[in-house]
Amino acid sequence: MLSSEPALIAALRADLSAAPFTVERTGAVLGPVAAGALAREQVLPAERATRDNPDPAAVLIRLFTLGDPVDRATVDAALPALGGAGALALGLVRDAGDALIATCDLRPYGDQEHAWWLASDLSELATRAPLSEDHVLGVGGASTTLASWTPRPRVGRALDLGTGCGVQALHLSTHAEHIVATDISDRALSYVRFNAALNGQEWDIRHGSMLEPVAGERFSLIVSNPPFVITPRDHGMPTYEYRDGGQQGDAVVADLVTRLGEHLEPGGIAQILGNWEIVGAAPWQDRVGAWARAAGVDVWVVQREIQDPAQYAETWARDGGHQSGTTDFNQMYAAWLDDFAARDVTGIGFGIITMHRPESDREPFVDLLDARGPVAAPMGPAVLAGIQARVWLAEHDDDAILDTSWSAAADVTVAQHFRAGSSDPEVIEVAQGGGLGYRESLDTASAAYLSVADGDLTARAALAAISGLLELDQDELVEAMLPRLRRWIAAAILR
Ligand SMILES: C[S@@+](CC[C@H](N)C(=O)[O-])C[C@H]1O[C@@H](n2cnc3c(N)ncnc32)[C@H](O)[C@@H]1O
Repeated sequence: MLSSEPALIAALRADLSAAPFTVERTGAVLGPVAAGALAREQVLPAERATRDNPDPAAVLIRLFTLGDPVDRATVDAALPALGGAGALALGLVRDAGDALIATCDLRPYGDQEHAWWLASDLSELATRAPLSEDHVLGVGGASTTLASWTPRPRVGRALDLGTGCGVQALHLSTHAEHIVATDISDRALSYVRFNAALNGQEWDIRHGSMLEPVAGERFSLIVSNPPFVITPRDHGMPTYEYRDGGQQGDAVVADLVTRLGEHLEPGGIAQILGNWEIVGAAPWQDRVGAWARAAGVDVWVVQREIQDPAQYAETWARDGGHQSGTTDFNQMYAAWLDDFAARDVTGIGFGIITMHRPESDREPFVDLLDARGPVAAPMGPAVLAGIQARVWLAEHDDDAILDTSWSAAADVTVAQHFRAGSSDPEVIEVAQGGGLGYRESLDTASAAYLSVADGDLTARAALAAISGLLELDQDELVEAMLPRLRRWIAAAILR
């Protein structure tokens, strides 16, 4: 457990700023090859890039990322205000004779506009051993996915459920006035207290399981990268707290989807990640749609990936530092396959769930999308626009759509593909540059509509002109176009 003694934290902050221990500086010290190798969990190039380098950032990488013993004089030079003694007092390092060895990972982290530091448990790359069951994760792929997809309007109260080392809370600190951060892990909360202090934040940090610590409370924004990994029960599997909520199948995510709505203010948004089981030949929308309809609020789900049971088992049996092919790995692999077979699970979906509490008593909407291609980064602005568009659609009828003068968004292009030698296009396609990278084939009439959608004509007037030009029945054209217009408004093809 780390200490958050203010004077020592202030000294550490001064040292990390002076180093400077920033994302840019560590990137420059490592260079692209060693940084790339580290991302693939290979330490050798990073060892070579930092070994004889007295730059404080290089010393701190060796100490806190690679887990190398570093002699006291070198630590004293890299952290002149705190010194090795202060690092020992904070609990960041332990004594190893002439050298100090990190007890935790500490690294710079940031977005385009903010520079922070995050402490978490040392990765298996530094310890060269499988993770312990109470391991506190640093920033992983799922953390950055959630951070990217979170809409970031200015809000009052925000909740980070299952905060881990506090990475989502740091992002929330850029646009929320009051942040509640919860976790079931005392070790995680010790890191959160430390990271909040180190980054000059005051969060309301609470211990407890899932929604228990916020019973009866509402928030304008809730984010959660919950322990959503589907894990066989009763097979002697390691129960990694950071990824496993201890329930059967995908019940952790089902519970959250059905209960989070109660904790949203009217107009409030929840953004969570999750896995779901795809059972037999049923489409994924059946199961997730049932959760969404039970939620009592608007739910928009984007499925980003499907793995088959073997792929899923391999991913999670390997996670935590277990080598493929070992007895441990094979036992876990078999347990996952048995567990999925017992429920006839044929696939496991991964995606992002956005929930929104309507401000009126209208019927909530449910939108279940598959979008597996590249998306904008960050995605938050597109998610916010997507929610606003869906709310507008839920609150307006066909006449309102037809009486609006829509504009095709600036990132929308229309491509025509011709068969060699032909002057008539074989395929016309609309493509969105940002957002979810929406694509759809067009017929002549819908392509004509997009070409005139510049905010001048109402959709009704534009379709009347197009039906005259193409000699189509106007009512039939309007009828055929309305579902398209709805899709395009939701996807921000039309604004
Ligand atoms: C996947 S990690 C997410 C950490 C961090 N928020 C992020 O985005 O990287 C899931 C977190 O949920 C916590 N957790 C596990 N079971 C929980 C429970 N029943 N209630 C609350 N938190 C739980 C774990 O301790 C862990 O910190």
